[in-house]
Amino acid sequence: MCTVCHGENGIAVAPNAPNLAGENAAYIVAQLKAFRSGKRQHEQMSIIAADLSDTEIADLARWYSLIKVVATPPKLD
Ligand code: HEC
Repeated sequence: MCTVCHGENGIAVAPNAPNLAGENAAYIVAQLKAFRSGKRQHEQMSIIAADLSDTEIADLARWYSLIKVVATPPKLD
Protein backbone atom coordinates (compact mmCIF):
# COMPACT_ATOMS: atom_id res chain seq x y z
CA MET A 1 0.00 0.00 0.00
CA CYS A 2 2.97 2.31 0.51
CA THR A 3 3.70 2.16 -3.23
CA VAL A 4 0.65 4.28 -4.10
CA CYS A 5 2.50 7.35 -2.84
CA HIS A 6 6.12 6.32 -2.28
CA GLY A 7 6.45 4.33 -5.51
CA GLU A 8 7.16 0.67 -6.28
CA ASN A 9 10.91 1.27 -5.94
CA GLY A 10 10.78 3.86 -3.16
CA ILE A 11 10.94 6.81 -5.55
CA ALA A 12 7.80 8.78 -4.77
CA VAL A 13 5.00 9.04 -7.32
CA ALA A 14 2.82 11.37 -5.24
CA PRO A 15 4.14 14.94 -5.46
CA ASN A 16 3.82 15.54 -1.70
CA ALA A 17 5.46 12.26 -0.66
CA PRO A 18 9.21 11.89 -0.02
CA ASN A 19 11.44 9.28 -1.65
CA LEU A 20 12.17 6.42 0.76
CA ALA A 21 14.66 4.51 -1.38
CA GLY A 22 18.03 4.32 0.32
CA GLU A 23 16.87 6.23 3.38
CA ASN A 24 18.58 5.13 6.59
CA ALA A 25 16.64 2.31 8.29
CA ALA A 26 16.95 3.85 11.76
CA TYR A 27 15.54 7.12 10.41
CA ILE A 28 12.58 5.35 8.76
CA VAL A 29 11.85 3.43 11.96
CA ALA A 30 11.98 6.65 13.99
CA GLN A 31 9.65 8.49 11.60
CA LEU A 32 7.09 5.66 11.41
CA LYS A 33 7.05 5.35 15.20
CA ALA A 34 6.68 9.14 15.50
CA PHE A 35 3.69 9.06 13.11
CA ARG A 36 2.24 6.13 15.06
CA SER A 37 2.60 7.84 18.45
CA GLY A 38 1.37 11.20 17.18
CA LYS A 39 4.71 12.93 17.81
CA ARG A 40 4.88 13.61 14.07
CA GLN A 41 1.57 14.51 12.47
CA HIS A 42 0.42 14.16 8.87
CA GLU A 43 -3.16 13.58 7.77
CA GLN A 44 -2.27 10.57 5.62
CA MET A 45 0.82 9.08 7.30
CA SER A 46 -0.62 9.26 10.83
CA ILE A 47 -3.53 7.05 9.76
CA ILE A 48 -1.28 4.66 7.82
CA ALA A 49 1.28 4.26 10.60
CA ALA A 50 -1.35 3.78 13.30
CA ASP A 51 -1.88 0.14 12.29
CA LEU A 52 1.78 -0.86 11.80
CA SER A 53 3.39 -3.26 14.28
CA ASP A 54 7.02 -2.91 15.42
CA THR A 55 7.89 -5.90 13.21
CA GLU A 56 6.21 -4.37 10.15
CA ILE A 57 8.00 -1.06 10.78
CA ALA A 58 11.35 -2.86 11.05
CA ASP A 59 10.69 -4.87 7.86
CA LEU A 60 9.56 -1.80 5.88
CA ALA A 61 12.57 0.22 7.07
CA ARG A 62 14.95 -2.58 6.13
CA TRP A 63 13.35 -2.99 2.70
CA TYR A 64 13.42 0.71 1.77
CA SER A 65 16.92 1.22 3.19
CA LEU A 66 18.29 -1.63 1.07
CA ILE A 67 17.09 -0.10 -2.22
CA LYS A 68 20.21 1.02 -4.02
CA VAL A 69 20.17 4.65 -5.10
CA VAL A 70 22.64 6.35 -7.39
CA ALA A 71 22.70 10.12 -7.08
CA THR A 72 24.26 12.41 -9.65
CA PRO A 73 24.63 16.06 -8.66
CA PRO A 74 23.34 18.49 -11.30
CA LYS A 75 25.76 20.36 -13.52
CA LEU A 76 24.88 24.03 -13.18
CA ASP A 77 26.13 26.62 -15.63
C1 HEC B 1 -1.58 8.41 0.65
C2 HEC B 1 -0.15 8.54 0.36
C3 HEC B 1 0.83 7.78 1.26
C4 HEC B 1 0.85 6.44 1.55
C5 HEC B 1 -0.11 5.37 1.06
C6 HEC B 1 2.01 6.23 2.39
N1 HEC B 1 2.66 7.41 2.61
FE1 HEC B 1 4.35 7.70 3.72
N2 HEC B 1 4.25 9.69 3.40
C7 HEC B 1 3.29 10.32 2.63
C8 HEC B 1 3.50 11.76 2.71
C9 HEC B 1 2.67 12.81 2.00
C10 HEC B 1 4.62 11.96 3.56
C11 HEC B 1 5.22 13.29 3.98
C12 HEC B 1 4.64 13.64 5.33
C13 HEC B 1 4.95 15.04 5.78
O1 HEC B 1 4.87 15.97 4.96
O2 HEC B 1 5.25 15.21 6.97
C14 HEC B 1 5.05 10.64 3.96
C15 HEC B 1 6.14 10.41 4.80
C16 HEC B 1 6.64 9.16 5.10
C17 HEC B 1 7.85 8.90 5.85
C18 HEC B 1 8.79 9.95 6.39
C19 HEC B 1 9.90 10.13 5.38
C20 HEC B 1 10.84 11.25 5.70
O3 HEC B 1 11.76 11.44 4.89
O4 HEC B 1 10.71 11.92 6.73
C21 HEC B 1 8.00 7.56 5.91
C22 HEC B 1 9.13 6.80 6.58
C23 HEC B 1 6.87 6.96 5.24
N3 HEC B 1 6.06 7.96 4.75
C24 HEC B 1 6.67 5.61 5.10
C25 HEC B 1 5.52 5.03 4.55
C26 HEC B 1 5.26 3.61 4.56
C27 HEC B 1 6.20 2.56 5.09
C28 HEC B 1 4.03 3.44 3.98
C29 HEC B 1 3.25 2.15 3.83
C30 HEC B 1 3.01 1.40 5.05
C31 HEC B 1 3.56 4.76 3.58
N4 HEC B 1 4.48 5.70 3.96
C32 HEC B 1 2.38 5.00 2.91
C33 HEC B 1 2.30 9.72 1.90
C34 HEC B 1 1.97 8.39 1.94
